[in-house]
Amino acid sequence: MPQLQTLFTPEEIKLAVKRLAQEISRDYQGKNPLFLGVLKGSFIFMADLIRNLDMPLEVEFVALSSYGQGMESSGKVNVVQDLRTSVKGRDILIIEDIIDTGITLSFLLEYLQCKKPASLKICALFDKASCRQIPLPIDYLGLSVPDVFVVGYGLDYDEKFRHLPGLYLLKE
Ligand code: XMP
Ligand code: MG
Repeated sequence: MPQLQTLFTPEEIKLAVKRLAQEISRDYQGKNPLFLGVLKGSFIFMADLIRNLDMPLEVEFVALSSYGQGMESSGKVNVVQDLRTSVKGRDILIIEDIIDTGITLSFLLEYLQCKKPASLKICALFDKASCRQIPLPIDYLGLSVPDVFVVGYGLDYDEKFRHLPGLYLLKE
């Protein structure tokens, strides 16, 4: 049986989400940004983040796959489910659960840039900066994570553990 070791408690995550919401609402005053969640991992972060915001906003999702079923990125990104909202002229804020190599988001940035948004920024709750292969500008960053595979708060291992309220290190 895999063992879980707590990296961030639900309370620590709650505080980080609240801080990100404050930064975002300060920067997007008078705008109507499109929050673009990267499925599946970002769904819990998205839900908590937007409930901390008292401002106009819209929500959209895109599903990308790079990981397959295991713990290693395959390095090749596919659009599994495309967005159904026009991005042209919109203020897009990408909502991502965790950034690892940067391959997924650099693909998404390029994919969206072609569609001519008014602005394009990244909000990531967790960051494994030591794993980065492609440098990325993270405009809003929650919490830094060491080079370990983590689960909980939307993140899975083989589709399990997404529902757990904290962030945990998965030990085989
Ligand atoms: P890259 O390497 O493209 O990876 O920046 C980003 C995507 O990979 C997933 N990912 C993880 N999922 N535990 C997970 O459950 C992890 O430790 C982990 N690291 C990366 C994640 O879905 C993200 O979108
Ligand atoms: Mg995953």
